[in-house]
Amino acid sequence: MPIQWNYRFALRTEGMKSSIIRELLKLTQDPDLISFAGGLPAPELFPVKEFTEASQKVLKEHGSKALQYSPTEGYIPLRELITERMNRDGIPVSADQILITSGSQQALDLTGEVFLDPGDAILLERPSYLGAIQAWTAYQARFVGAEIDKDGVNPDALRDGARSSPKFMYILPNFQNPGGTTLSEERRRKILELSEEFGMPVIEDDPYGSLRFEGEHLPPMAAIDALSNGGSLEHVIYLGTFSKILAPGLRLGWVAAKPEVMRYYVQAKQGQDLHTSILTQMIAYEVAKDGFLEEHIRKICEVYGQRRDIMVDAMKRYFPEEVTWTVPQGGLFLWATLPDGLDTGPLFKQAIAEKVAFVPGYVFYAPEIGKEPLRNSMRLNFSNAKPEQIEEGIKRLGRAIEKMMG
Ligand SMILES: Cc1ncc(COP(=O)(O)O)c(C=O)c1O
Repeated sequence: MPIQWNYRFALRTEGMKSSIIRELLKLTQDPDLISFAGGLPAPELFPVKEFTEASQKVLKEHGSKALQYSPTEGYIPLRELITERMNRDGIPVSADQILITSGSQQALDLTGEVFLDPGDAILLERPSYLGAIQAWTAYQARFVGAEIDKDGVNPDALRDGARSSPKFMYILPNFQNPGGTTLSEERRRKILELSEEFGMPVIEDDPYGSLRFEGEHLPPMAAIDALSNGGSLEHVIYLGTFSKILAPGLRLGWVAAKPEVMRYYVQAKQGQDLHTSILTQMIAYEVAKDGFLEEHIRKICEVYGQRRDIMVDAMKRYFPEEVTWTVPQGGLFLWATLPDGLDTGPLFKQAIAEKVAFVPGYVFYAPEIGKEPLRNSMRLNFSNAKPEQIEEGIKRLGRAIEKMMG
Protein backbone atom coordinates (compact mmCIF):
# COMPACT_ATOMS: atom_id res chain seq x y z
CA MET A 1 0.00 0.00 0.00
CA PRO A 2 1.47 3.44 -0.90
CA ILE A 3 2.15 5.63 2.12
CA GLN A 4 -0.26 8.56 2.53
CA TRP A 5 2.32 10.88 4.02
CA ASN A 6 -0.16 13.68 4.71
CA TYR A 7 -2.03 11.44 7.15
CA ARG A 8 1.17 10.45 8.89
CA PHE A 9 2.55 13.90 9.75
CA ALA A 10 1.84 15.26 13.23
CA LEU A 11 -0.74 18.03 13.53
CA ARG A 12 2.03 20.41 14.58
CA THR A 13 3.46 20.37 11.04
CA GLU A 14 0.39 22.28 9.83
CA GLY A 15 1.67 25.53 11.33
CA MET A 16 5.29 24.94 10.33
CA LYS A 17 6.78 27.20 7.68
CA SER A 18 10.23 27.59 6.27
CA SER A 19 11.77 30.84 7.53
CA ILE A 20 10.89 33.54 5.00
CA ILE A 21 14.31 35.08 5.58
CA ARG A 22 16.05 31.86 4.61
CA GLU A 23 13.89 31.76 1.45
CA LEU A 24 14.71 35.39 0.66
CA LEU A 25 18.38 34.74 1.22
CA LYS A 26 18.28 32.16 -1.55
CA LEU A 27 17.39 35.03 -3.91
CA THR A 28 20.43 36.98 -2.81
CA GLN A 29 23.16 34.68 -4.06
CA ASP A 30 24.01 36.93 -7.05
CA PRO A 31 27.58 38.17 -6.38
CA ASP A 32 26.70 41.66 -7.70
CA LEU A 33 23.85 41.98 -5.25
CA ILE A 34 24.46 43.95 -2.05
CA SER A 35 22.60 42.33 0.80
CA PHE A 36 21.39 44.06 3.94
CA ALA A 37 19.07 41.09 4.50
CA GLY A 38 20.82 38.47 6.66
CA GLY A 39 21.83 38.87 10.29
CA LEU A 40 25.40 38.06 9.39
CA PRO A 41 28.44 39.32 11.27
CA ALA A 42 31.37 40.81 9.33
CA PRO A 43 33.24 37.69 8.09
CA GLU A 44 36.58 39.48 7.76
CA LEU A 45 36.59 39.91 11.56
CA PHE A 46 36.33 36.19 12.34
CA PRO A 47 39.50 35.18 14.22
CA VAL A 48 40.40 32.43 11.77
CA LYS A 49 44.08 32.26 12.77
CA GLU A 50 43.21 31.91 16.45
CA PHE A 51 40.69 29.16 15.64
CA THR A 52 43.25 27.30 13.52
CA GLU A 53 45.79 27.34 16.33
CA ALA A 54 43.22 26.49 19.01
CA SER A 55 41.86 23.52 17.00
CA GLN A 56 45.34 22.09 16.67
CA LYS A 57 46.11 22.63 20.33
CA VAL A 58 42.85 21.05 21.54
CA LEU A 59 43.27 18.00 19.33
CA LYS A 60 46.94 17.59 20.17
CA GLU A 61 46.60 18.03 23.91
CA HIS A 62 43.07 16.77 24.63
CA GLY A 63 42.14 14.88 21.44
CA SER A 64 40.52 11.88 23.07
CA LYS A 65 38.38 14.04 25.35
CA ALA A 66 37.41 16.39 22.51
CA LEU A 67 36.18 13.51 20.36
CA GLN A 68 34.30 11.64 23.11
CA TYR A 69 30.67 12.01 24.35
CA SER A 70 30.47 14.57 27.12
CA PRO A 71 28.00 15.89 29.75
CA THR A 72 24.81 17.55 28.50
CA GLU A 73 25.37 20.69 30.57
CA GLY A 74 28.54 21.57 28.66
CA TYR A 75 32.30 22.01 29.03
CA ILE A 76 33.02 23.32 32.52
CA PRO A 77 35.76 25.86 31.62
CA LEU A 78 33.48 27.39 28.98
CA ARG A 79 30.58 27.56 31.46
CA GLU A 80 32.92 29.24 33.95
CA LEU A 81 33.99 31.78 31.34
CA ILE A 82 30.33 32.58 30.65
CA THR A 83 29.67 32.81 34.38
CA GLU A 84 32.49 35.32 34.83
CA ARG A 85 31.13 37.51 32.02
CA MET A 86 27.60 37.34 33.40
CA ASN A 87 28.82 38.09 36.94
CA ARG A 88 30.58 41.19 35.61
CA ASP A 89 27.25 42.17 34.09
CA GLY A 90 25.57 41.89 37.50
CA ILE A 91 23.99 38.45 37.04
CA PRO A 92 25.23 36.35 39.98
CA VAL A 93 24.91 32.88 38.41
CA SER A 94 27.27 29.97 39.04
CA ALA A 95 28.56 27.61 36.35
CA ASP A 96 26.03 24.92 37.32
CA GLN A 97 23.24 27.32 36.29
CA ILE A 98 24.57 27.46 32.73
CA LEU A 99 23.53 24.99 30.05
CA ILE A 100 25.46 25.18 26.77
CA THR A 101 23.15 24.90 23.78
CA SER A 102 23.61 24.53 20.03
CA GLY A 103 23.15 28.24 19.40
CA SER A 104 20.55 30.22 21.30
CA GLN A 105 18.16 29.01 18.61
CA GLN A 106 18.21 25.64 20.38
CA ALA A 107 17.57 27.41 23.69
CA LEU A 108 14.43 28.91 22.13
CA ASP A 109 13.31 25.48 20.97
CA LEU A 110 14.03 24.00 24.41
CA THR A 111 11.97 26.82 25.93
CA GLY A 112 9.07 25.67 23.76
CA GLU A 113 9.56 22.06 24.77
CA VAL A 114 9.75 22.86 28.47
CA PHE A 115 6.88 25.35 28.70
CA LEU A 116 4.40 25.03 25.85
CA ASP A 117 1.33 22.86 25.49
CA PRO A 118 -0.73 23.21 22.30
CA GLY A 119 -2.76 26.42 22.38
CA ASP A 120 -0.65 28.11 25.06
CA ALA A 121 -0.15 31.84 24.60
CA ILE A 122 3.19 33.65 24.40
CA LEU A 123 3.44 37.36 25.01
CA LEU A 124 6.03 38.90 22.70
CA GLU A 125 7.13 42.13 21.10
CA ARG A 126 5.54 43.15 17.84
CA PRO A 127 7.64 42.78 15.67
CA SER A 128 9.97 40.16 17.14
CA TYR A 129 12.69 37.65 16.26
CA LEU A 130 11.45 35.42 13.46
CA GLY A 131 13.42 32.34 14.61
CA ALA A 132 11.58 32.35 17.95
CA ILE A 133 8.20 32.65 16.23
CA GLN A 134 9.18 29.77 13.97
CA ALA A 135 10.38 27.56 16.87
CA TRP A 136 7.26 28.13 18.98
CA THR A 137 4.84 27.73 16.09
CA ALA A 138 6.00 24.10 16.01
CA TYR A 139 4.73 23.76 19.61
CA GLN A 140 1.31 25.01 18.44
CA ALA A 141 1.56 28.19 20.51
CA ARG A 142 -0.67 31.25 20.17
CA PHE A 143 0.96 34.66 19.99
CA VAL A 144 -0.11 37.80 21.78
CA GLY A 145 1.84 40.81 20.56
CA ALA A 146 2.69 44.11 22.24
CA GLU A 147 3.73 46.91 19.89
CA ILE A 148 7.20 48.38 20.08
CA ASP A 149 7.86 52.09 19.73
CA LYS A 150 11.19 53.90 19.30
CA ASP A 151 12.15 52.89 22.87
CA GLY A 152 11.26 49.21 22.48
CA VAL A 153 8.22 47.46 23.82
CA ASN A 154 5.84 49.51 25.91
CA PRO A 155 5.14 47.90 29.32
CA ASP A 156 1.53 49.15 29.14
CA ALA A 157 1.04 47.23 25.90
CA LEU A 158 2.53 44.16 27.60
CA ARG A 159 0.08 44.64 30.49
CA ASP A 160 -2.84 44.44 28.02
CA GLY A 161 -1.41 41.23 26.58
CA ALA A 162 -0.77 39.74 30.02
CA ARG A 163 -4.54 39.46 30.49
CA SER A 164 -4.54 36.52 28.00
CA SER A 165 -2.62 34.45 30.62
CA PRO A 166 0.50 33.79 28.52
CA LYS A 167 2.93 31.10 29.66
CA PHE A 168 5.84 33.53 29.40
CA MET A 169 6.97 36.85 27.92
CA TYR A 170 9.71 36.95 25.29
CA ILE A 171 11.75 40.14 25.46
CA LEU A 172 14.78 41.38 23.49
CA PRO A 173 16.03 44.28 25.61
CA ASN A 174 19.11 45.34 23.64
CA PHE A 175 19.26 46.43 19.98
CA GLN A 176 16.16 44.45 19.21
CA ASN A 177 15.96 42.20 16.17
CA PRO A 178 14.43 43.55 13.98
CA GLY A 179 13.67 47.01 15.45
CA GLY A 180 17.15 48.03 16.65
CA THR A 181 15.48 49.46 19.78
CA THR A 182 16.74 49.27 23.38
CA LEU A 183 14.62 49.19 26.53
CA SER A 184 15.38 51.85 29.13
CA GLU A 185 16.18 50.69 32.65
CA GLU A 186 12.79 52.00 33.73
CA ARG A 187 10.97 49.87 31.15
CA ARG A 188 13.05 46.83 32.19
CA ARG A 189 11.97 47.35 35.81
CA LYS A 190 8.32 47.78 34.81
CA ILE A 191 8.41 44.56 32.80
CA LEU A 192 9.82 42.74 35.82
CA GLU A 193 7.05 44.20 37.98
CA LEU A 194 4.55 42.85 35.47
CA SER A 195 6.25 39.47 35.62
CA GLU A 196 5.87 39.52 39.43
CA GLU A 197 2.27 40.74 39.30
CA PHE A 198 1.12 38.09 36.80
CA GLY A 199 3.48 35.30 37.94
CA MET A 200 4.75 35.08 34.36
CA PRO A 201 8.41 34.29 33.55
CA VAL A 202 10.47 36.52 31.25
CA ILE A 203 12.62 34.93 28.55
CA GLU A 204 15.36 37.54 28.10
CA ASP A 205 17.05 36.91 24.75
CA ASP A 206 20.25 38.95 24.62
CA PRO A 207 22.48 38.11 21.65
CA TYR A 208 23.49 41.73 21.06
CA GLY A 209 23.95 43.18 24.59
CA SER A 210 27.78 43.17 24.38
CA LEU A 211 27.76 44.84 20.98
CA ARG A 212 27.14 48.37 22.22
CA PHE A 213 29.18 50.94 20.33
CA GLU A 214 27.55 54.05 21.75
CA GLY A 215 25.79 55.17 24.93
CA GLU A 216 25.73 53.67 28.37
CA HIS A 217 25.48 49.99 29.15
CA LEU A 218 22.18 49.06 30.81
CA PRO A 219 21.73 46.22 33.30
CA PRO A 220 20.19 43.05 31.87
CA MET A 221 16.76 42.24 33.28
CA ALA A 222 18.34 39.12 34.82
CA ALA A 223 20.65 41.40 36.85
CA ILE A 224 17.80 43.59 38.09
CA ASP A 225 15.82 40.45 38.93
CA ALA A 226 18.67 38.86 40.87
CA LEU A 227 19.47 42.08 42.71
CA SER A 228 15.94 42.35 44.05
CA ASN A 229 15.65 38.63 44.87
CA GLY A 230 18.70 37.84 47.00
CA GLY A 231 20.86 36.83 44.02
CA SER A 232 18.33 34.37 42.57
CA LEU A 233 16.87 34.44 39.05
CA GLU A 234 13.26 34.38 40.21
CA HIS A 235 11.58 35.80 37.12
CA VAL A 236 14.07 35.65 34.26
CA ILE A 237 15.48 32.93 32.05
CA TYR A 238 18.47 34.44 30.25
CA LEU A 239 19.63 33.35 26.77
CA GLY A 240 23.07 34.21 25.42
CA THR A 241 25.14 33.25 22.39
CA PHE A 242 28.66 33.33 20.94
CA SER A 243 27.22 33.78 17.44
CA LYS A 244 27.59 37.55 17.23
CA ILE A 245 30.59 38.02 19.50
CA LEU A 246 32.79 35.21 18.13
CA ALA A 247 31.31 33.25 15.20
CA PRO A 248 27.84 31.88 14.36
CA GLY A 249 29.29 28.78 12.69
CA LEU A 250 30.30 27.54 16.14
CA ARG A 251 26.62 27.06 17.03
CA LEU A 252 27.30 27.84 20.68
CA GLY A 253 24.78 29.52 22.94
CA TRP A 254 23.60 29.14 26.51
CA VAL A 255 20.70 29.31 28.93
CA ALA A 256 20.95 30.56 32.51
CA ALA A 257 18.10 29.94 34.93
CA LYS A 258 17.38 28.96 38.50
CA PRO A 259 18.20 25.28 39.21
CA GLU A 260 14.60 23.99 39.33
CA VAL A 261 14.01 25.39 35.82
CA MET A 262 17.40 24.34 34.49
CA ARG A 263 16.68 20.70 35.34
CA TYR A 264 14.00 20.54 32.63
CA TYR A 265 16.09 22.36 30.05
CA VAL A 266 18.86 19.79 30.60
CA GLN A 267 16.45 16.87 30.27
CA ALA A 268 14.88 18.33 27.12
CA LYS A 269 18.33 18.83 25.60
CA GLN A 270 19.27 15.24 26.38
CA GLY A 271 16.33 14.18 24.20
CA GLN A 272 17.29 16.54 21.40
CA ASP A 273 21.03 16.04 20.91
CA LEU A 274 22.65 14.64 24.11
CA HIS A 275 25.10 17.54 24.16
CA THR A 276 26.54 20.33 22.05
CA SER A 277 29.76 19.41 20.23
CA ILE A 278 32.45 19.19 22.91
CA LEU A 279 35.17 19.68 20.29
CA THR A 280 33.65 23.05 19.35
CA GLN A 281 33.18 24.05 22.99
CA MET A 282 36.82 23.28 23.80
CA ILE A 283 38.10 25.17 20.78
CA ALA A 284 35.88 28.18 21.49
CA TYR A 285 37.10 28.25 25.09
CA GLU A 286 40.72 28.07 23.96
CA VAL A 287 40.15 31.09 21.68
CA ALA A 288 38.02 33.12 24.07
CA LYS A 289 40.06 32.74 27.27
CA ASP A 290 42.64 35.12 28.78
CA GLY A 291 40.87 38.27 27.65
CA PHE A 292 40.84 37.54 23.91
CA LEU A 293 37.04 37.61 23.70
CA GLU A 294 36.75 41.05 25.31
CA GLU A 295 39.46 42.45 23.04
CA HIS A 296 37.71 40.94 20.02
CA ILE A 297 34.33 42.39 21.04
CA ARG A 298 35.92 45.85 21.28
CA LYS A 299 37.14 45.46 17.70
CA ILE A 300 33.74 44.32 16.43
CA CYS A 301 31.99 47.24 18.16
CA GLU A 302 34.33 49.73 16.58
CA VAL A 303 33.68 48.39 13.08
CA TYR A 304 29.91 48.04 13.52
CA GLY A 305 29.65 51.56 14.93
CA GLN A 306 31.41 52.92 11.84
CA ARG A 307 29.16 50.88 9.55
CA ARG A 308 26.01 52.11 11.25
CA ASP A 309 27.21 55.69 10.77
CA ILE A 310 27.96 55.07 7.10
CA MET A 311 24.53 53.54 6.57
CA VAL A 312 22.66 56.32 8.38
CA ASP A 313 24.66 58.99 6.60
CA ALA A 314 23.92 57.39 3.21
CA MET A 315 20.22 57.07 4.07
CA LYS A 316 20.10 60.80 4.80
CA ARG A 317 21.49 61.48 1.34
CA TYR A 318 19.73 58.85 -0.78
CA PHE A 319 16.34 58.12 0.84
CA PRO A 320 13.29 60.32 0.22
CA GLU A 321 12.80 62.58 3.22
CA GLU A 322 9.50 60.90 4.19
CA VAL A 323 11.42 57.73 5.18
CA THR A 324 12.30 57.42 8.89
CA TRP A 325 14.56 54.97 10.74
CA THR A 326 15.82 53.89 14.14
CA VAL A 327 19.44 54.72 15.01
CA PRO A 328 20.53 51.79 17.22
CA GLN A 329 23.39 52.24 19.68
CA GLY A 330 24.60 48.70 19.07
CA GLY A 331 23.79 45.37 17.45
CA LEU A 332 23.41 44.59 13.77
CA PHE A 333 20.15 46.08 12.51
CA LEU A 334 18.16 49.20 11.96
CA TRP A 335 14.49 49.49 11.06
CA ALA A 336 13.36 51.87 8.35
CA THR A 337 9.76 52.95 7.82
CA LEU A 338 8.24 54.28 4.61
CA PRO A 339 5.17 56.50 4.49
CA ASP A 340 1.81 54.85 5.37
CA GLY A 341 0.23 52.90 2.56
CA LEU A 342 3.51 51.79 0.97
CA ASP A 343 4.40 48.10 1.00
CA THR A 344 7.96 46.77 1.32
CA GLY A 345 6.83 43.41 -0.18
CA PRO A 346 6.67 44.76 -3.76
CA LEU A 347 9.60 47.06 -2.94
CA PHE A 348 11.70 43.96 -2.27
CA LYS A 349 11.24 42.88 -5.92
CA GLN A 350 12.16 46.37 -7.15
CA ALA A 351 15.21 46.30 -4.90
CA ILE A 352 16.34 42.93 -6.21
CA ALA A 353 16.09 44.39 -9.72
CA GLU A 354 18.41 47.19 -8.48
CA LYS A 355 20.66 44.48 -6.97
CA VAL A 356 20.15 45.26 -3.32
CA ALA A 357 18.28 43.22 -0.67
CA PHE A 358 16.65 43.80 2.72
CA VAL A 359 14.03 41.95 4.75
CA PRO A 360 10.47 43.29 4.47
CA GLY A 361 9.28 44.15 7.98
CA TYR A 362 6.01 42.22 7.87
CA VAL A 363 7.82 38.86 8.17
CA PHE A 364 8.71 39.67 11.80
CA TYR A 365 5.10 39.81 12.99
CA ALA A 366 3.78 36.70 14.73
CA PRO A 367 0.39 35.60 13.37
CA GLU A 368 -2.44 36.99 15.50
CA ILE A 369 -6.14 36.79 14.87
CA GLY A 370 -7.55 40.21 14.02
CA LYS A 371 -4.15 41.90 13.68
CA GLU A 372 -2.30 42.64 10.47
CA PRO A 373 1.44 43.28 10.29
CA LEU A 374 2.66 46.74 9.34
CA ARG A 375 3.73 46.52 5.72
CA ASN A 376 5.69 49.74 5.27
CA SER A 377 8.85 48.82 7.22
CA MET A 378 12.07 46.99 6.52
CA ARG A 379 15.04 45.61 8.43
CA LEU A 380 18.50 46.64 7.27
CA ASN A 381 21.65 44.89 8.46
CA PHE A 382 24.72 47.12 8.70
CA SER A 383 27.33 44.67 10.04
CA ASN A 384 27.96 42.45 7.04
CA ALA A 385 28.59 44.68 4.03
CA LYS A 386 31.82 46.66 3.62
CA PRO A 387 31.62 50.50 3.83
CA GLU A 388 31.72 51.08 0.06
CA GLN A 389 29.01 48.44 -0.44
CA ILE A 390 26.84 50.08 2.22
CA GLU A 391 27.07 53.42 0.43
CA GLU A 392 26.30 51.87 -2.96
CA GLY A 393 23.56 49.57 -1.60
CA ILE A 394 21.71 52.44 0.09
CA LYS A 395 21.99 54.46 -3.12
CA ARG A 396 20.36 51.56 -5.04
CA LEU A 397 17.69 51.12 -2.37
CA GLY A 398 16.95 54.85 -2.41
CA ARG A 399 16.43 54.55 -6.17
CA ALA A 400 14.03 51.63 -5.72
CA ILE A 401 12.06 53.54 -3.05
CA GLU A 402 11.85 56.64 -5.22
CA LYS A 403 10.58 54.59 -8.16
CA MET A 404 7.95 53.07 -5.93
CA MET A 405 6.86 56.40 -4.55
CA GLY A 406 6.53 57.57 -8.12
C1 LIG B 1 17.17 37.67 18.87
C2 LIG B 1 17.88 36.45 18.43
N1 LIG B 1 17.80 35.35 19.19
C3 LIG B 1 18.43 34.22 18.83
C4 LIG B 1 19.16 34.15 17.67
C5 LIG B 1 19.80 32.84 17.31
O1 LIG B 1 21.16 32.91 17.35
P1 LIG B 1 22.11 31.66 17.42
O2 LIG B 1 21.29 30.41 17.33
O3 LIG B 1 23.05 31.80 16.30
O4 LIG B 1 22.78 31.74 18.75
C6 LIG B 1 19.28 35.28 16.85
C7 LIG B 1 20.02 35.23 15.59
O5 LIG B 1 20.06 36.11 14.80
C8 LIG B 1 18.61 36.46 17.25
O6 LIG B 1 18.67 37.59 16.53
